[in-house]
Amino acid sequence: MSEAPSKTNPLLKVSNLSVHFKQGRTLFGPRPALRAVDDVSFDLAEGETLSIVGESGSGKSTLARGVLRLLKPTKGQVWLEGQELGGLSGEQLRKARRHMQLIFQDPIASLSPRRTVEQIISEPLQTHYPQLSGAERREKVADIMRAVGLLPDMRNRYPHEFSGGQAQRIGIARALVLEPRLLVADEPVSALDVSIQAQVLNLLADIKQERKVSMLFISHDLSVVHHISDRLLVLYLGQVMEIGHAKSIYERPQHPYTKVLLSAVPRMQVVGREKRRRIHLNDDLPSPSAKRAGCPFASRCPVATSQCKAEMPKLTDFEGRQVACHFPGIALEGEKAA
Ligand SMILES: Nc1ncnc2c1ncn2[C@@H]1O[C@H](COP(=O)(O)OP(=O)(O)OP(=O)(O)O)[C@@H](O)[C@H]1O
Ligand SMILES: [Mg+2]
Repeated sequence: MSEAPSKTNPLLKVSNLSVHFKQGRTLFGPRPALRAVDDVSFDLAEGETLSIVGESGSGKSTLARGVLRLLKPTKGQVWLEGQELGGLSGEQLRKARRHMQLIFQDPIASLSPRRTVEQIISEPLQTHYPQLSGAERREKVADIMRAVGLLPDMRNRYPHEFSGGQAQRIGIARALVLEPRLLVADEPVSALDVSIQAQVLNLLADIKQERKVSMLFISHDLSVVHHISDRLLVLYLGQVMEIGHAKSIYERPQHPYTKVLLSAVPRMQVVGREKRRRIHLNDDLPSPSAKRAGCPFASRCPVATSQCKAEMPKLTDFEGRQVACHFPGIALEGEKAA
């Protein structure tokens, strides 16, 4: 069992978290479980933004849901402000929820179509602060609408009357109205037009600055999280490949998978005086339930050896961050443009 953190430092501590999904049986016995998240640990400090990146199916959303206890982890612990969420009763967990809020990917789909903006944003207040008067609630809703760039006059409109970017502002207002300590944003801009993405990202960056809220920011796109991340966690088949300060990972990725991800982002292909060349992976992401002894990335890694296929590398300190690779920092062929 991990040692309990103090009340605020780190704000969030995740220890050896695993979320495995059972997959039924075949004639010959139970199917192996699908290991969507496998033994993930990290800390999040007050006011810090940790971005969780990885390709589709790498377990990002499942990790977020496990952290927020929207699903029960198979193993591991999550501490929020020194309180272990797994040890809480249903009622205690419901109370703790006001400190951790989720922003969804698809803003319009995540908002109830038959409720007005005011009803949507004030619902969490009614749940967690039923003692507030109607006037107090309305004032808080108006304040938070202004803070996210919506006019309080829009309070009686319905979600379908808004553009995607405005709808995401409503979702952000709903998440912020309780003044949470932890905000989890799961692909908050990937359903939006590119021109609108920057506006919503800027809003989230301002919120982080002004409200000192800690953020887990999930994205499959490394260019989206570039400016907002303090630290970066690279997930592959539910396991942490590399974690550390965002700037140094962007400039000097050490895990082959991180190098591949970064090489795929056109805007990241020039770093200082160096040019990166795109590194292609041939195969699709393997199934998270396939049996494997070694590194999860070994089947696609351009520099994997027999050791990589046989033995899972431990997450180890390297160049100021942690890397799970037997050969951290190894150069990939064609990595740098001539
Ligand atoms: N409720 C579930 N039951 C069974 N398998 C699941 C469930 N939820 C997710 N999975 C599987 O877990 C793995 C990780 O899925 P997850 O949605 O967490 O990935 P992701 O990184 O968020 O992907 P995306 O970028 O597409 O959102 C996938 O193989 C997925 O099929
Ligand atoms: Mg997801």
